[in-house]
Amino acid sequence: MIKIVTIIGARPQFIKAATISRVIKNADDIVEIIIHTGQHYDNNMSHVFFEEMEIPTPNYNLGIGGGNHGHQTGSMLISIENVLVTEEPTLVIVYGDTNSTLAGALAATKLQIPVIHIEAGLRSFNRNMPEEINRVLTDHISEMLFTPTDAAIENLKNEGIYESKMYRVGDIMYDAALFYKEKAKINSEIIKTLNLENVDFILATVHRAENTDSKERLTSIMKGLDEISIKTKIILPIHPRTKQKIKEYKIKTKNITFIDPLGYIDMVMLEMSCKMIITDSGGIQKEAFFHGKPCITLRSETEWVELVESGCNFLWAEDISLVDLYNASKALNIDLSNNFYGSGNAAALIVDQLLEKYKV
Ligand code: UD1
Ligand code: UDP
Repeated sequence: MIKIVTIIGARPQFIKAATISRVIKNADDIVEIIIHTGQHYDNNMSHVFFEEMEIPTPNYNLGIGGGNHGHQTGSMLISIENVLVTEEPTLVIVYGDTNSTLAGALAATKLQIPVIHIEAGLRSFNRNMPEEINRVLTDHISEMLFTPTDAAIENLKNEGIYESKMYRVGDIMYDAALFYKEKAKINSEIIKTLNLENVDFILATVHRAENTDSKERLTSIMKGLDEISIKTKIILPIHPRTKQKIKEYKIKTKNITFIDPLGYIDMVMLEMSCKMIITDSGGIQKEAFFHGKPCITLRSETEWVELVESGCNFLWAEDISLVDLYNASKALNIDLSNNFYGSGNAAALIVDQLLEKYKV
């Protein structure tokens, strides 16, 4: 029997964990205890994913959202440690690169509980990003590192991590995209709700700290999107952080259609139906590729380098006009024959490896 404690807290982690939890549910000899740190807490940033993706209700919700990074991460560390001491799991799973990831990994490793990092090895090489610090530290204290790409393996080798700890299984977000795209076709009514039948539209999201925490940069992005949306409708499900900042900076737009954050099934439907994606999200850059859409990434570097190298994704830096970049990239056809992210069975491969290593 393996007892797993899964630690999640932010929107993309719910989506990643959904794929693993589904495999665990069908596996003998594994029990899963879920800790939700509370990092994301609005209904449409958290609860909706548990409901529609059938993720088991968390056994613990620590209620730690908001606040500065140190305070948030430190509070999580203290509370997670208490749970781990009570639960005594065989191992702990953490996902990605949020503060919940780092807090979970630190709490476990200090109790000498093996840390399993899913989506390991990604690097932007930009240490100003909180996510880069979180992922580097987590990788270096993990016992098993499940990586989505070849580039991730190379990054880990370059940092001196033992190859015996690395497993190239593909991207679990690809598993999710394949599984939920069929459900979206049947269950999503978002195209009708937003009157998008036969409408050419762009799907956009913005939430990253380096974009939202600079008034100049967020204004520049919103002005560029507003200009593009004179001719082509832009649908922008707005992250609460961005909503707050637009209000704080008094940024005015005329043409962008802002909507509340969506559940995953509606989001997948929009991704499949749009003509292009403009985003600073890590997950959505890949989903653009999974659904065959060109993507502009509102950052000057990315962890998903293979998408840029293969001409599916265009990085935006402030010295380029967003409107010009959009005009140059909108008509691209995406070559889906590239198999960067595995076969869509990453979750099954991960659970097999866990059973092989930890089942007694
Ligand atoms: C976090 C992650 C980021 C990830 C993103 C996914 C870190 C350092 N950042 O960024 O890597 O890409 O999640 O979306 O862990 N808020 C609400 N309601 C919510 C959640 C957040 O109002 O349900 C507001 C709060 O004011 C909060 C702010 O958004 O302070 C930022 O939330 P936080 O979780 O700290 O960072 P994200 O920008 O969401
Ligand atoms: N997503 C969603 N609804 C939204 C916006 C995003 O379901 O309104 C999904 C998206 O499809 C992707 C994940 O959330 O699977 C990405 O999360 P986010 O952009 O918040 O974080 P990142 O991937 O940048 O860490």
